[in-house]
Amino acid sequence: MHVILNKKLVLARKAVISISDHGFKFGDAIYETIRTLDGKQWLLSEHLKRLRASAKVVGIRVPYTNAEFSRLIERLIKKNGYAESRVRITVTRGNNGFDFLTCKKPLVLIEATKLPRFKQSEGISVSVFHVERPAAGIKSTSMLPSILARRNPGEETLLVDRYGNITEGSFSNIFAVKGGTIITPKEGMLEGTTRNFVLKKYNKTKEASIPLKNIHKYDEIFLTSSTKGVIPVIKVDGKPINNGKIGELTKQIIKLLPYGTKKSHKKVKIR
Ligand code: PDD
Repeated sequence: MHVILNKKLVLARKAVISISDHGFKFGDAIYETIRTLDGKQWLLSEHLKRLRASAKVVGIRVPYTNAEFSRLIERLIKKNGYAESRVRITVTRGNNGFDFLTCKKPLVLIEATKLPRFKQSEGISVSVFHVERPAAGIKSTSMLPSILARRNPGEETLLVDRYGNITEGSFSNIFAVKGGTIITPKEGMLEGTTRNFVLKKYNKTKEASIPLKNIHKYDEIFLTSSTKGVIPVIKVDGKPINNGKIGELTKQIIKLLPYGTKKSHKKVKIR
């Protein structure tokens, strides 16, 4: 498997990053995870927009144009040869001493790892964890709160803030369904590209808090993420949601996304 490190295509096992790199030392880095579907980069421009927004807040320079990113990713997915892959862009502040203000030479790593053929989730059980991700709107590699949350049982963990509201999943966004409207939090979470896509495609939406104490009163619950698409939630903390079945509206939302409609894991020809 190859990766692209600072624009150079190298074998992953031969890629070398300094032990002084800020990303390694301090989690001083930002990232994006993009899914490819049938070799195509899904929502790339939205991901790059968010990457640049995160970079601006932390003061890391993103040294490539969107066209350059797109070309590099294209090259890598062709080289690695998988139509369905998880493309991860990581931009660190580089080897910058103890300077967190400037960014002299950022490091850019692009990876494209093989994903299994897309399979629509049949519904998952989740637990809850009380934690607030600092600066949650930035896609930073500092994921300690999510890591602590993921030590809980279940396939995903819902994060609950100090007001008792669910902000998001540890690596996903949350939606609750009530009377045909889909509700998702407006703040305290990462603005997911899949979340925003769903909000644009469906017409009865509301950005509002989802209190944990009401979680079993909603008709349906689902999560969204780039790699997994729409993930129905059928149990929270051991208690069923919608009698433990995927809801009808969740099924409609699943159909709005292009996931799983194409043949995946096809070898892509290297030009
Ligand atoms: N995770 N919230 C958090 C905390 C996330 O880490 C993610 C994405 C999302 C959903 O964002 P999007 O729809 O743009 O994937 C929400 C990805 C999959 C990851 O970290 O690899």
